[in-house]
Amino acid sequence: MNIGMIIHSETGHTEYVAERLLKELKDKGYNVSYIKLKTEASAPKEPKKIVDNPSLKEFDTIIFCSHVEAFSLAGAMKAYLKGIEDISTKKVICMITQQFPFPWMGGNNALKQMKALIAQKGGSVISTADVNWGNEQKREGKVTDAIEAITAVV
Ligand SMILES: Cc1cc2nc3c(=O)[nH]c(=O)nc-3n(C[C@H](O)[C@H](O)[C@H](O)COP(=O)(O)O)c2cc1C
Repeated sequence: MNIGMIIHSETGHTEYVAERLLKELKDKGYNVSYIKLKTEASAPKEPKKIVDNPSLKEFDTIIFCSHVEAFSLAGAMKAYLKGIEDISTKKVICMITQQFPFPWMGGNNALKQMKALIAQKGGSVISTADVNWGNEQKREGKVTDAIEAITAVV
């Protein structure tokens, strides 16, 4: 089974969780491609532009990883998902990181937007994980829970 991880991370939190997940999946013997979206600055106050559109063709399972921005899914991940091919034959998993203490402060909405964009490409999300970065004491537990939940369903 080929797993593709597609990551958008501005300050490294999502990338940190994704790298931990990558290690866990590799330790379990999965074949995983780790793809970080390349972005560039656009106009001030506009979301970053994506400069590549990695193909998902070779993957059986795709794990989209992004952060939350202004109570929404980060703009670059939105733009990328709008441009992907049909993924109706694939298992899809979404992971987000966010800062604010309550899921209604952006996390829930970002996952809802991710699912809707994926549905437009025929995909159906089998599992989601939300890692709250804001609470330093609880952070490690959130990271571990997300990794366990995802590795259980890939
Ligand atoms: C411009 C901006 C807007 C943000 N908006 C939200 C938000 O609405 N809700 C939230 O929970 N976190 C918000 N955050 C926090 C990030 O989602 C959080 O720090 C995330 O873990 C960053 O991931 P990254 O390091 O992979 O980019 C925002 C961060 C930035 C820089």
